[in-house]
Amino acid sequence: MLGLLGASAVVLTAGGGAFVLTRDPAGARVPWSVAGERFEDPRLRAVSYAIFAPNPHNRQPWIVDLRTEGEVHLFCDTDRLLPETDPFGRQIVIGLGCFLELLKIAAEADGYAVEVDGFPEGASEERLDKRPVAHVRFTKKAGIPMVPLFHAILRRRSNKEPYDTDRAVPASVLMAVTAEGRDNVSSGATANPDDVSRLRELTWRAHVTEVTTPRMNMESLRLMRIGKSKIEANPDGIALGGAFLETLNRIGVLTREELADQESSAFHQGLEMYREITGTAMAYVWVITEGNTRRDQLAAGRAWVRMNLKAAEIGVGLHPLSQSLQEYEEVQPHFWEVHAMLTKRPGQRIQMLGRVGYGPDVAPSPRWPVETRLLEA
Ligand SMILES: Cc1cc2nc3c(=O)[nH]c(=O)nc-3n(C[C@H](O)[C@H](O)[C@H](O)COP(=O)(O)O)c2cc1C
Repeated sequence: MLGLLGASAVVLTAGGGAFVLTRDPAGARVPWSVAGERFEDPRLRAVSYAIFAPNPHNRQPWIVDLRTEGEVHLFCDTDRLLPETDPFGRQIVIGLGCFLELLKIAAEADGYAVEVDGFPEGASEERLDKRPVAHVRFTKKAGIPMVPLFHAILRRRSNKEPYDTDRAVPASVLMAVTAEGRDNVSSGATANPDDVSRLRELTWRAHVTEVTTPRMNMESLRLMRIGKSKIEANPDGIALGGAFLETLNRIGVLTREELADQESSAFHQGLEMYREITGTAMAYVWVITEGNTRRDQLAAGRAWVRMNLKAAEIGVGLHPLSQSLQEYEEVQPHFWEVHAMLTKRPGQRIQMLGRVGYGPDVAPSPRWPVETRLLEA
């Protein structure tokens, strides 16, 4: 990145201190500090935590209808799909599964039992439509149960930083994390050096395929928000915040146009950064389903977020790397390679794959306020 900096180093040192302090997109993180207590309705209290679910490209594809007493009806916002990298909406549904699991955990910690009915009116496997993703019924229970994972909701992250290559991930940590991946899915993990080096290479190659396939790269670039004002105006998508990146953007070095140009130095520096990120994986975890129905995808999301919460509770980083699991044509060689490596039977589907390791602390990612995700009467 320093190579990219050039003239902007001057900008940052000459009176850059105040600038640095004001560039944090704190407004996009407000939902993280107001979750819970301020809402009267227990369903809204739970939804105010569920919006912290991991989800592809931080699209936050959820719409919540609270108009039926005691129930939450969850819909997919079909304006928030990723038609290129996620042509069937599989990853979007996984994100909605993550949302449902956080909803359940938050409701239980608040003294409610919840019953989740996934895709109660059926679903198309080809494309997502306006039919409900889930009906969730809330019932008050006596006493407030202990729900340990609840306390990890506000600490959970997808930690996309390079990890410490001097710090191995103990088998006990991988066991504790994968133990949360149950209920209609199977989870797996490896810290075996041969497997890790193979997966580092494979995930890197799949990333290169994605960014060098222009229609895939453009889908991500269109969702990029560079700098505080863009992130706060649209607290979703791929947020590149902080004074350093914002300065590169202002001087025209880090822009959508530059990143779309495979000859540019921004494009090459971006690739280098990703090489480091994928190359510092110290272990991997994954979630597999027997088939690939919409309910399988919801189950995979529910398992993934529990694993992510457990990782947060333990203090180890987890970062989904989905490129090799995608369905578009150019990535198929990587898709088959990773399935040949990690699945046991034909038909099994890897829904999530993530690298594990110890990285620096990272700030929570942007979220739209809960009120903006509610279906109006
Ligand atoms: C189905 C799914 C696929 C994802 N794939 C990737 C990925 O390939 N690369 C990546 O950096 N993050 C990936 N993520 C993580 C999201 O980018 C992340 O959840 C989102 O930006 C919100 O950030 P947070 O999880 O830290 O709250 C994925 C998440 C989900 C649920």
